[in-house]
Amino acid sequence: MRLQIPTLLTLLTTAVPLTLAQSRPNDTTICDFYTTALLKDNTAANQLKLLTLIVNTVVIGNYTTPNVGIAVPGILAPGKFNGTEVNLAPFFDGALFSTNDGKSEGSAVNFLDGGGAKPLMENKAADDDKKDSRQYNLLTHLYEFFGSLLGCSQQGMDDYPAYNGVASMYEVHKFMNLDAFQIGYFIQQVALSAASFGVAKEDLEVVGAALDKLFNKRCSPATVVIPSAGPQLESMCIASSCPLDPMAACGLYDKEGTGTPPKVANASLAGNTSSTASASATGTASATASKPTTTTPTGGAAVERVGSFAAVAGAVLLAFAL
Ligand code: HEM
Ligand SMILES: *[C@@H]1O[C@H](CO)[C@@H](O)[C@H](O)[C@H]1NC(C)=O
Ligand SMILES: *[C@@H]1O[C@H](CO)[C@@H](O)[C@H](O)[C@H]1NC(C)=O
Ligand SMILES: *[C@@H]1O[C@H](CO)[C@@H](O)[C@H](O)[C@H]1NC(C)=O
Ligand SMILES: *[C@@H]1O[C@H](CO)[C@@H](O)[C@H](O)[C@H]1NC(C)=O
Ligand SMILES: *[C@@H]1O[C@H](CO)[C@@H](O)[C@H](O)[C@H]1NC(C)=O
Repeated sequence: MRLQIPTLLTLLTTAVPLTLAQSRPNDTTICDFYTTALLKDNTAANQLKLLTLIVNTVVIGNYTTPNVGIAVPGILAPGKFNGTEVNLAPFFDGALFSTNDGKSEGSAVNFLDGGGAKPLMENKAADDDKKDSRQYNLLTHLYEFFGSLLGCSQQGMDDYPAYNGVASMYEVHKFMNLDAFQIGYFIQQVALSAASFGVAKEDLEVVGAALDKLFNKRCSPATVVIPSAGPQLESMCIASSCPLDPMAACGLYDKEGTGTPPKVANASLAGNTSSTASASATGTASATASKPTTTTPTGGAAVERVGSFAAVAGAVLLAFAL
């Protein structure tokens, strides 16, 4: 609660104090542009380093110097999104039966089992002797996933493998019953983290709008996010309050795309809420998440979208030239 920026829109329309001087050419991906700007050589190792810095900052808040003077609370810190209290920590520390481990209901998993924040502050995913931890697995998958979204051109090499996790973000998050405030908070932390490294406002808008459109609507049709995986169910917003995708295809999702709040596994960790720790937005007006103002291709399957963007920009999704 150190910082209370009400909405992503507010963040995006607030002047960023200092951004990298030149703007990004439309044929250079966000990943490639900022790797070069911040780390000089556009190698696979440096692209992974950039994504490690950004993702670790999303998780634990700003820890690096230099930073351009933007404080990032991080997703483990409780905060507010659009006036609604949000606390994502119980999904990561084993407080809730919210992890999809392939069973018919969620499991309680502690994802801070690789040394917690300390190795993250050393620009690692986990302690060196904890490479078999859930923490290491999650963090490396996040580096890979966001690298793919941001169009890292060198990904797929030994130094920076392609995304190796579950392709459907719906499957990964389906027992969490996330709402638009929780996902909005997460996206806001991504934007703040990128901003803290000097990413320009226009690029933050592209990323924020794409994350909102891809993951923060209920019942979205199957969509290509990781090109090699083909179209997948990607809606993470499945709480009943979530805004419906304009192209809603609820029949593709379990229970018509409506989630069930996860049960509490450890009340003291979950903050002693009665049955759900995640019911932050229950009963409040449904969240109409920020509408992207960027132009997006109309209608049609997302496969076509990615195809057309790829044709134009030679890159994927967030990397496209908007
Ligand atoms: C734009 C929003 C988000 C994106 C792009 C995203 C992306 C991802 C990705 C790529 C993974 C790794 C999956 C794997 O290892 O196979 C993951 C896992 C996870 N995410 Fe998210 N996430 C988002 C929002 C959230 C939110 C709001 C929460 C709520 C607390 C959350 C909680 C988790 C947890 C607990 C895991 C570990 C699950 C597991 O390993 O089974 N995520 N997410
Ligand atoms: C990218 O920039 C070039 C040259 O400035 C322009 O011709 C082209 O239309 C732009 N492409 C997109 C997708 O904006
Ligand atoms: C995070 O950034 C803010 C703003 O620049 C700064 O005041 C604070 O000291 C930083 N925190 C850490 C732990 O570096
Ligand atoms: C709940 O979490 C606390 C804090 O991590 C821990 O000390 C306690 O053993 C946990 N209780 C159970 C039943 O797992
Ligand atoms: C929270 O839960 C813990 C363990 O279940 C219990 O000891 C504690 O009294 C509870 N606190 C409140 C405020 O209910
Ligand atoms: C924020 O809350 C206001 C008032 O409740 C609502 O009109 C707006 O759509 C919300 N925006 C987001 C991004 O949730």
